[in-house]
Amino acid sequence: MSTDRFMGFLIGKFPGYSGMMAFCFFFFSTFAYAEPQQVLVEKGEKIFQEICTACHTVGGGVLVGPDLKGVTRRRDLAWLRRFILAPDQMLNEKDPIALALFEEYGIPMPSFGLTEEQVEAIIAYLGAGEPAPAGIPSLYIPTLLIGVLAIVALTFTGLIAGTKRVEVRL
Ligand code: HEC
Repeated sequence: MSTDRFMGFLIGKFPGYSGMMAFCFFFFSTFAYAEPQQVLVEKGEKIFQEICTACHTVGGGVLVGPDLKGVTRRRDLAWLRRFILAPDQMLNEKDPIALALFEEYGIPMPSFGLTEEQVEAIIAYLGAGEPAPAGIPSLYIPTLLIGVLAIVALTFTGLIAGTKRVEVRL
């Protein structure tokens, strides 16, 4: 294919191509972020009510353990994940924050054998209403990857299928 004909080919496909891109962008950005976040927060709230409210409040003051309002801002996200997953292990490792909390509250927080997914949901619940942490949570990466792959596949489909002959005269 000569350069002229190739340019003509691209120009001919352009309307379908850009429309498809715009559609995919809005479609996947809505699904990749809004939906899972809401589901996650509700899941986290349920687990929190079942297990954590025995010792914690969110904004209601100290109970057996600290008030967890704003904890997602107060602590590093990675630290929070590790602590909720296995607080006893963090004490064993002499994590300075865990040690200080233990000293302050007098009893260690037990490990509940939660899965990483459950911990992620609890953190989403605790962080709801707080400014979103920077970066893409690992939970969204599969959705994003599928989105990108679908965009690439649809783009090629659009390039091949959408036809409109354009003659370029120089
Ligand atoms: C039996 C009481 C108890 C239960 C149930 C409990 N915790 Fe705790 N939690 C504590 C105590 C006590 C501390 C203070 C740290 C320590 O003494 O080891 C703490 C500390 C924390 C911290 C650190 C707070 C900070 O200021 O950094 C987080 C986060 C936390 N808990 C989350 C949870 C979550 C999420 C659950 C439910 C899955 C939960 N806790 C269930 C007693 C509990």
